[in-house]
Amino acid sequence: MTAEIITITATAPDAAAAGAPVLTDDPTAHRVLTGDRPTGPLHLGHYFGTLRNRVLLQDQGVDMFVVVADYQVITDRDIADRLAEHTESLVLDYLAAGLDPERATIFAHSAVPALNQLLLPFLSLVSVAELSRNPTVKDEIAHSRQSAVSGLMFTYPVHQAADILFCKADLVPVGQDQLPHLEVARTVARRFNERYPHADGSVVFPLPQALLSDAPMLLGTDGGKMSKSRGNAIPLGATEDETARIIRAARTDADRHIDYDPVDRPGVAGLVLLAALCQDRAPEAVAEEIGDGGAAALKRTVTESVNEYLRPMRARRAELAADRGHLRQVLHDGAERANAVADATLAEVREVMGAI
Ligand code: TRP
Repeated sequence: MTAEIITITATAPDAAAAGAPVLTDDPTAHRVLTGDRPTGPLHLGHYFGTLRNRVLLQDQGVDMFVVVADYQVITDRDIADRLAEHTESLVLDYLAAGLDPERATIFAHSAVPALNQLLLPFLSLVSVAELSRNPTVKDEIAHSRQSAVSGLMFTYPVHQAADILFCKADLVPVGQDQLPHLEVARTVARRFNERYPHADGSVVFPLPQALLSDAPMLLGTDGGKMSKSRGNAIPLGATEDETARIIRAARTDADRHIDYDPVDRPGVAGLVLLAALCQDRAPEAVAEEIGDGGAAALKRTVTESVNEYLRPMRARRAELAADRGHLRQVLHDGAERANAVADATLAEVREVMGAI
């Protein structure tokens, strides 16, 4: 079983769109579903990895659904702390980055009961052996903060299949780690369609496809993958001073000559890449300009580039943050739209299953 993968490279000549998904067929014919766990504010790794691409897809006219996967937070930890706050801050980051709630349906998983009700028939379509083979789940179990592995850990990919299938999304922008989950969604859809066709032979679910972009993986300030839990990330909403402080503490090396060498100098290369993405230039060009300036000059450049790049987004973020009521309204409206779609899908599912 391999997911059909659409890798889309930008046709746009400017580096800003490098690695961005550009759909070559009619974008308005697609429904895209993506989502995040509300575990804290988003950082630059999220932005250049996925968020920017979502906005580009939205602007091409795809019908975008974005799930705030609140129940998923309790897969690898016992307590979902500050969930309401994190959900709102996620929406804040989405809107600041350019997702438009008029065009994109942004909703919390827990606010859509019919979506969750799909979990029961879906669970009947996968075996325990299949659930335990999922490499991403295995990896999460290895890094879990729980003393015992819960049933939710094994079943959340099926939950995620419901996130995707309830709205009949045909494209799911994902990173490599999410491919096994997309495979589960495809398996569930295929088996459901085989077992429960409509009387006229038509099927309920389209098979969702992965949309893999070749956006570069952004490294954190310690040279490892940028991740909040590693403390090496630059939050989108950080102040300019906080940003400067995080970058000043970044791990570099003693070689004053700055080049772009991700294999041998991951710390330096991560910083160079960050500046390059923000300046919309090739990393080699950024490194060459700094030349023998050493880590101090590199960090100065990175700090300026990041702060300049994020300035308009942060200004928008501050404006939006002042109006919590608006954020709640966005979630409320999104849930209303998602509920209408989920109710219709659940009704169809129950009909083909014999009104279970
Ligand atoms: N599992 C994803 C993550 O951890 C979040 C998510 C939940 C998701 N439902 C989804 C992603 C559906 C894509 C499609 O980030």
